[in-house]
Amino acid sequence: MESALEYHTARALLEWQVDLGATEAILDAPVNRYDVPEKRKAPEQPAADAPIRKVEIDPVEVAQQMAKSASSLDELQAALAQYPHCSIKNGARSLVFSDGHAAARVMIIGEAPEREEDRIGKPFVGRVGQLLDRMLAAIDMDRTAQTEEQAVYLANVMPWRPPQSRDPLPDEIAMMMPFVQRHVELVDPDFLILMGNIPCQGVLKQRGITRLRGTWVEAFGKPCLPMFHPSHLLRNPNAKREAWADLLSLKARINSAVSS
Ligand code: URA
Repeated sequence: MESALEYHTARALLEWQVDLGATEAILDAPVNRYDVPEKRKAPEQPAADAPIRKVEIDPVEVAQQMAKSASSLDELQAALAQYPHCSIKNGARSLVFSDGHAAARVMIIGEAPEREEDRIGKPFVGRVGQLLDRMLAAIDMDRTAQTEEQAVYLANVMPWRPPQSRDPLPDEIAMMMPFVQRHVELVDPDFLILMGNIPCQGVLKQRGITRLRGTWVEAFGKPCLPMFHPSHLLRNPNAKREAWADLLSLKARINSAVSS
């Protein structure tokens, strides 16, 4: 009996509230309609004196990622053009990527472009490059040749001209090495020539071209010959004798690869 009464009382109260204009049932707990939902709240600002956490970027790691993702020489050149961590690029006119035939058996890795290379956008086109062309001609090789045996492919460790043609610094060389390695992988030559100290430092992690030259070693899985840089030969004509011996050694390797 008592519960029937409660029912009728409760129903009368509800109807009375509806008559007053109530349209919603009221919850047990109050709802604050002025509260901003959590996800719409503005992010909390760090305190002004909070230490700023710097994100450390490793330029060599960035270079590795960018170089690895290049699946053609064009893509590698584009990756170098987009690489943001080598400040030498800011003072250079051109990205000096390569010259010669990409199907050549021999790939020459030089140091860095000088004034003429920067102006024209190709490696080894100045006085030093002209001497290199004469050296190659002496063993019947030519950067414009189309046959695998005679053709040569030319690139540098550093594709931008450093200020006043100074030597690239060790950290600048290190950040270019992933690109050099990918360059070698994509060209896939039979023989590598390292011209001068900078490519020896980058590829073999050694300097001292006078000691290194003339001895075949392995680099990037290829037979590799360090040689005097032609600019060294311009300054030291007596060293041409050793350079000639190294050219003959290269020619002998090419010939034996062709005949085997
Ligand atoms: N010296 C190099 O090593 N490379 C060039 O392209 C020009 C000069």
